[in-house]
Amino acid sequence: MDKIVIDGGRPLEGTVKISGAKNAVLPVLTAMLLTRGRNVIEGVPNVRDVTTMIKLLKDLGAEVESYRDEKIILDTSRANNPEAPYDLVSTMRASCLVLGPLLAKLGRAKVSLPGGCAIGARPIDLHVKGLEAMGAKIFLRQGYVHATADRLRGVQFYFDTVSVTGTANLMMAATLAEGKTVLENAAKEPEVAFLADVLNHAGAKIDGHGTDTITIHGVSSLQPIECRIFPDRIETGTYMIAAAITRGEVLIENCVPQHVEAITLKLQEAQVDVEARGTSLRVRARHPLLAVNASTHPHPGFPTDIQAQFMALMTLARGRSIITETVFENRFMHVAELKRMGADIALNGHTAVIRGVQKLSNAPLMATDLRASASLVLAALAAKGKSIISRVYHIDRGYVSMEKKLSSLGAQIKRAK
Ligand code: EPZ
Repeated sequence: MDKIVIDGGRPLEGTVKISGAKNAVLPVLTAMLLTRGRNVIEGVPNVRDVTTMIKLLKDLGAEVESYRDEKIILDTSRANNPEAPYDLVSTMRASCLVLGPLLAKLGRAKVSLPGGCAIGARPIDLHVKGLEAMGAKIFLRQGYVHATADRLRGVQFYFDTVSVTGTANLMMAATLAEGKTVLENAAKEPEVAFLADVLNHAGAKIDGHGTDTITIHGVSSLQPIECRIFPDRIETGTYMIAAAITRGEVLIENCVPQHVEAITLKLQEAQVDVEARGTSLRVRARHPLLAVNASTHPHPGFPTDIQAQFMALMTLARGRSIITETVFENRFMHVAELKRMGADIALNGHTAVIRGVQKLSNAPLMATDLRASASLVLAALAAKGKSIISRVYHIDRGYVSMEKKLSSLGAQIKRAK
């Protein structure tokens, strides 16, 4: 089991390049199942969730013609197997994104229910409810969702809760449905808007994406997908906070400043200098770090995927910070570990009250989920001395070569068995 060893207490300095967005490429990969032919995606991040998704698509009959240098060519001419097996789906919730495309293209789907995960139950009841509203017959048996539909038909559907993959699933299903679908209270995340653009480029008829009402007019078929994935806004936010928590100065290249505005504003409120220049961000920590409050919300609000990393930063800020997690029911797994490093955090339901301390002390740490792991890496970078973080496979799910990128910024970090 890999561990990451960090000898912290050094300011990060230099330039780091952001990789493709994990949560943009995953739905684009499953959207390929709506097509028959040779699909090409560039800017693919080399992370474990992508490898898992490609394995799943091959199980469903897709063939990888080539995959190197962040470019994948995937042929879906023979993608006729409707069954997504438990062993793959159980390791990655985003596998549920094959449900809509399989139903729309094959009229059948048998997809294992995603296991819960460390951050909550994470049901897919809204995905199922939406597909049933489109005419699918769905029943759950032995941990699998069994779904059939002669031809999905357009529907007006309201999401009780904003759901990123729920919106993506129903939007993909609607591209080949009969008639018009209107998705209300839809997710506005950039990854969802990007998926709509990619589908439109393949012949779909989607508009309103990026707002909370998306309209899709069904078509009879789609052309193979071709696109380039945009940079990962959560990776961007993570490196912004890495610069701030180590009191360094980092130039973040190949990013989309517009996608991280909520993070930028929060950091500026805490007296961190953030300067956007085209596709780069310069982050510098010269002034004392001030405690600020934050509450997570669907895009364009403060992203839940940055909450843990931001909390690590606030443990060293002057004053009291109140952080509220409104998206997931249990996304404070990092709190206990940060407290073991000397952080002063009190939990009360969905709210954490953080009182800044002078310094964090190095410690042996355990990662629990992808973004909590990133939070512990950031805290360890700030703490003088050696910290060892175990279960780092969580990090490999969503960050490309994190230790290499941090080393290039001067961090003393290495992977150990
Ligand atoms: C996506 O997950 C992201 N994953 C998550 O990123 C991200 O944290 C989340 O959106 C919120 O932004 C991918 O895009 C692959 P949701 P998703 O459906 O779609 C509840 C990471 O670190 N809900 O928007 O699974 C749900 O329980 C990952 O990269 C239902 O109740 O999240 C949650 O409380 C972690 N029923 C809330 O809605 C449903 O049918 C938002 O979930 C669906 C969701």
